[in-house]
Amino acid sequence: MAFLEIENVYKSFGKTDVLKGVSFSLEKGEVLSIIGSSGSGKTTLLRCLNFLEKPDMGVFYLNGGELFNANTQYDDHELRQKRLSFGLVFQSFNLFPQYTALKNVTLALDLQKIEKAKKLGKVTKAQKAEIYAENEKIAKELLSSVGLEEKMGNYPCELSGGQQQRVAIARALALSPEVLCFDEPTSALDPELTGEVLRAIKELKSSDRTMIIVTHEMDFAKHVSDKVIFMANGVIEEVGTPEEVFDNPKSPLTRAFLAKSEEVI
Ligand SMILES: Nc1ncnc2c1ncn2[C@@H]1O[C@H](COP(=O)(O)OP(=O)(O)OP(=O)(O)O)[C@@H](O)[C@H]1O
Ligand SMILES: [Mg+2]
Repeated sequence: MAFLEIENVYKSFGKTDVLKGVSFSLEKGEVLSIIGSSGSGKTTLLRCLNFLEKPDMGVFYLNGGELFNANTQYDDHELRQKRLSFGLVFQSFNLFPQYTALKNVTLALDLQKIEKAKKLGKVTKAQKAEIYAENEKIAKELLSSVGLEEKMGNYPCELSGGQQQRVAIARALALSPEVLCFDEPTSALDPELTGEVLRAIKELKSSDRTMIIVTHEMDFAKHVSDKVIFMANGVIEEVGTPEEVFDNPKSPLTRAFLAKSEEVI
């Protein structure tokens, strides 16, 4: 069994069938790019993987065990726990404007660790201070790893779009998700800022970091991915290595999509 197995995901909104039986698998440390035209269901798929939407059907397996089954009812606590397996970096950064870059990265970690400590009894001020210090250290390392050591004390409004997106990446990494997902991480950026974010994502590639990237950056997808999925009308129209999908696409729909995206470039 692969590290991540997604089986037969269906999702409709009212009468609109958006995902119509999506299945794929990924090994640990692999990078999957998902490409496809607007409205094909890419964001919906990522939102299902992150439990922001509930699939109507489907089963997810992670690390050898069943993580999610659409036929099972989970309570809020269970869903929150499951959600920790996946990190999601949004197109529009979604940083908290009232907090510094550092606080944006530590916030969820602080809450998580304090909640955990509370289960063991009353949390003292000293314990809290220790948790905050520990998380600051983690956040500083993560922010440095995305090239933001100079900007930790700045607020989102004082950062460029590319810098804000790199804070969002550090924030997603802070919770150590097993799979890190990106939904068009550069599409809200000016072209000159796109490169710095793509470089930061590329540098995250490592043997134990599994990533799923929805992107319109075909060149990036070609160079960073182990696997590429082309989605059309709620199904996986084609899947393969970057060479297979980009250089030798089998489906006429894939060929038409790639020809169109070349025109845009
Ligand atoms: N919450 C919702 N309610 C109703 N319809 C929705 C909802 N979310 C998505 N849809 C519909 O699902 C379809 C797929 O949307 P989705 O956002 O997944 O596409 P996408 O492939 O990410 O497109 P894009 O490249 O433009 O981001 C669209 O027809 C959209 O209108
Ligand atoms: Mg989308």
